[in-house]
Amino acid sequence: MNPSFVLQRALPTSSRLVFGCMGLGGSWDAQPIGADELRHAAAAVDAALEIGITLFDHADIYTLGKAEQVFGRLLKQDPTLRERLLLQSKCGIRFADANGPKRYDLSREYILASVDGILQRLGTEYLDVLLLHRPDPLMDAEEIAEAWHQLKASGKVRHLGVSNMHSGQMALLQQALPEPLVANQLEMSLLKHDWIENGTCFNDDQGKGGRVWSDTLQYCQRHGIQLQAWGALARGWYSGAAPQDAPAAVHATATLVQQLAAQHNVAAESLLLAWLLRHPAGIQPVIGTAHPGRIGACGAALQVKLSREEWYRLYVTARGLELP
Ligand SMILES: NC(=O)c1ccc[n+]([C@@H]2O[C@H](COP(=O)([O-])OP(=O)(O)OC[C@H]3O[C@@H](n4cnc5c(N)ncnc54)[C@H](OP(=O)(O)O)[C@@H]3O)[C@@H](O)[C@H]2O)c1
Repeated sequence: MNPSFVLQRALPTSSRLVFGCMGLGGSWDAQPIGADELRHAAAAVDAALEIGITLFDHADIYTLGKAEQVFGRLLKQDPTLRERLLLQSKCGIRFADANGPKRYDLSREYILASVDGILQRLGTEYLDVLLLHRPDPLMDAEEIAEAWHQLKASGKVRHLGVSNMHSGQMALLQQALPEPLVANQLEMSLLKHDWIENGTCFNDDQGKGGRVWSDTLQYCQRHGIQLQAWGALARGWYSGAAPQDAPAAVHATATLVQQLAAQHNVAAESLLLAWLLRHPAGIQPVIGTAHPGRIGACGAALQVKLSREEWYRLYVTARGLELP
């Protein structure tokens, strides 16, 4: 049975795919945005819209704010665009500065100031979703709830979610919040497969990382929280960009991905995403490529229905070890 996800109810999207905007805006420095960066972003966003994507994922830190800025320019160029898509951004990571090392900050003041910065860079009056980017060891659920009340009441943010948090952290936050968290964005892919590994092998030596994921996957499923998978394209390692010195399992998986993609008559990228989509948790893959051709290559992912055997062949080849 498909779980009824709060985010899908609240934000009907025509595609299960999300476009990750981390690759927009140029380099991670203070160089101003030029015509090249604007053209690059426009081509990527067009390609994403072309394959039916409506949810765009940002973070205040991406290319040091330039990803949001360049996206804001696109929104300004086409005033109809804002209402045709959903904007999600994240806050809570602070880079090293004169006041301290790189750190996480989910204090009320920092959340509120971050959202103002995000809205200003995007040139929009509201965000559809705000994600708390990473768990801050000093976070206080009541304080976050206060920030949330203010953001909601002012109309600046419509829905709240988290990223890189485990079930215990989510439960702690949830008990202070009046509304359900709508999403959790975590690294999940055929390459980074500990999210299944830990449940499948929790009682076996092979499942040594189990402590971290614990029941996060099942917590999100039970509570209707949308799982979003960052790193979904596995950095291109299974679709032509594997480093020469990558482990043998990576090369074997890349070969298998190509073979199955050919059998299903789709590009390797679509096959790879179909592997995530086949899981019953209703995962939304966040694609990080900004290359229009590679974005287009993701477009057939929803049409691929992998058999149980194909899904397991990919999983077992990627883990490089027979299941216990
Ligand atoms: N919540 C978090 O903590 C978090 C962390 C990281 C990322 N994210 C989000 O998730 C999105 C996706 O994550 P990601 O970018 O880390 O992972 P990804 O989608 O697995 O990888 C995208 C990267 O791989 C490259 N790539 C993909 N296929 C390739 C190929 N065949 N050949 C060469 N290069 C290829 C892309 O370059 P090209 O652009 O040249 O194709 C891009 O740099 C991000 O945009 C961001 O929105 C969230």
